Amino acid sequence: MIFETHAHYDDEAFDEDREELLACLPESGIGRVVNVGSSLRSCRQTIELMERYPFLYGALGVHPSDSAELDEESIRWLREQCALEKCVAVGEIGLDYYWDEPDREIQKNWFLLQLALAREVGLPVIIHSRDAARDTIDLMTAEKASEIGGVIHCFGYSREVAKIFLNMGFYIGIGGVLTFKNARKLKEVAEYVPMDRIVLETDSPYLAPVPNRGKRNSSLNLPHVAQALAEIKGLSREEVEQITWENACRLYRMKE
Ligand code: NI
Repeated sequence: MIFETHAHYDDEAFDEDREELLACLPESGIGRVVNVGSSLRSCRQTIELMERYPFLYGALGVHPSDSAELDEESIRWLREQCALEKCVAVGEIGLDYYWDEPDREIQKNWFLLQLALAREVGLPVIIHSRDAARDTIDLMTAEKASEIGGVIHCFGYSREVAKIFLNMGFYIGIGGVLTFKNARKLKEVAEYVPMDRIVLETDSPYLAPVPNRGKRNSSLNLPHVAQALAEIKGLSREEVEQITWENACRLYRMKE
């Protein structure tokens, strides 16, 4: 069975067939899914999905690109929802200097406050960090993120940066990009990161792996990512699925 650690099934890309698609995941080898909130609206939708599907869990938080919508009241609301039994993480939170909006100071402020929220409620964090390695590391260090724990999702930096996050005790999320021909840097990272610190993710509906690159992504594509990782690690696909399942359970502090 595969543990999907990061998907966005609340996305409008799934409006046509969400129910059919989610219903078929367990019988297709996707044993657990964490649906990740990225805005307050998507957090509300994530809670609905958590209530509806036994195999689906939720992460609640606001993505840096949407962080301008946050205020004290919404943080209070998030804190309350984090107490839900099936909420397993705070996320996705972080910094995105690729899109570079809203203003970096706004992104940093809400990243710090959501790190503090995770500490307060005792949940790990799902970090989104794009073109912002230095500031991400600095803020995580300032907030003692090593005591909070979590995953760097859709990892896109170098081996050297991976080492810093590994030293903080974080997991590295790897998805469809690993199957891309031009993904030399990520393949090096996958080779470098110890097998017990890697988790599988899609970031659906984005970043579908080869041979479905460019199409809408779903957790059904994860075997392609597991296969690519198996080849790099010299393991069987089944071994990769088993080990990453155990890793995801440790990351999200769930029973196997
Ligand atoms: Ni995401």
